[in-house]
Amino acid sequence: MNKVDSLPGSLLSRMSTLADATRLRLLRLLERRELGVVDLCDVLQLPQSTISRHLKVLAGRGWVRSSRRATTHLYRMTLDQLDPGARRLWLLARDQIGGWATIGQDELRLARRLRRRQDRAQAFFAGAAAEWEKLRRELYGDDFVRAAMLSLLPSHYVVADLGCGTGQAAAELAGAVRRVIAVDNSPAMLRAARKRTAGRRNVEIRRSDLSALSLESGSCDAAILLLALTYVADPEAAVKEAGRILRTGGKLVIVDLLPHDREDFQRRMGQQSAGFALDEARRMLLDAGFDAAGATPLPPAAGARGPALFLATGLRKRLRNKVSR
Ligand SMILES: C[S@@+](CC[C@H](N)C(=O)[O-])C[C@H]1O[C@@H](n2cnc3c(N)ncnc32)[C@H](O)[C@@H]1O
Repeated sequence: MNKVDSLPGSLLSRMSTLADATRLRLLRLLERRELGVVDLCDVLQLPQSTISRHLKVLAGRGWVRSSRRATTHLYRMTLDQLDPGARRLWLLARDQIGGWATIGQDELRLARRLRRRQDRAQAFFAGAAAEWEKLRRELYGDDFVRAAMLSLLPSHYVVADLGCGTGQAAAELAGAVRRVIAVDNSPAMLRAARKRTAGRRNVEIRRSDLSALSLESGSCDAAILLLALTYVADPEAAVKEAGRILRTGGKLVIVDLLPHDREDFQRRMGQQSAGFALDEARRMLLDAGFDAAGATPLPPAAGARGPALFLATGLRKRLRNKVSR
């Protein structure tokens, strides 16, 4: 027992705090959740002046703490912040009041109030569904969605960004996985990628051709080919190379153009092909030794002026061991 606990005044003060039915009811509610004065008035069915007076006593003697959220004060009793003597006394009192009918009523009214809050949130979203994305962007921006999704990646992964360009994907992936190997054959793009990923020690920038990657077989857990395949003379060979560097079960993700007939666009962008049909993308993956090959069109982004895109994925098949004769 500490010195303060042993003073007669402490015990009497604690007992006098608890010697009030309203304060016991308040503590019982605030032990389990944070509530505001308006909530407490509704649940205890008492006027605000009465609730505020008792909260003032409880806060003044260290039984509850308040924190400010926007324009309201929220109260909470934190059991492990009470001194040991007060905690013991409260546990005893709590045990005694558990069977009071009025405590049961408080619980019912609290449950109703919390349900109503939930209904209010649902009503808000029902009305705001159409506007929600715009509102969300205005309030919070878009980056947190990508951050949340990137964090789904296993953090021990080694990921190859094939045809990395200026390294945008590599830089983002670097925050989520163990190592990123960013590959491109354009010195200018590699310079930009190096600049963009400077300071990220888990990014390795390599100059290499997509049709003959300077990476060891089976050395990566996943690989991405974003907007790169339309630039290579032999896309089948590039997909096979991507398969070679993946371990068994490793995933390849391709995003590229769906077929289009905009010759001027193709010429201006220096592309070797005018996109790939979904079947063609799936076939390339299967022929390159991928399982579970799938391809799907992507919904065009608002305001995007280029041809529509697809997303294709496949899992690296287990390689059969060569039979030695
Ligand atoms: C349109 S950019 C896309 C870059 C990046 N993936 C992105 O989404 O922003 C295509 C990239 O592929 C690279 N590339 C094209 N053919 C390549 C090849 N045969 N080997 C390596 N990189 C190649 C280009 O240098 C370019 O950086």
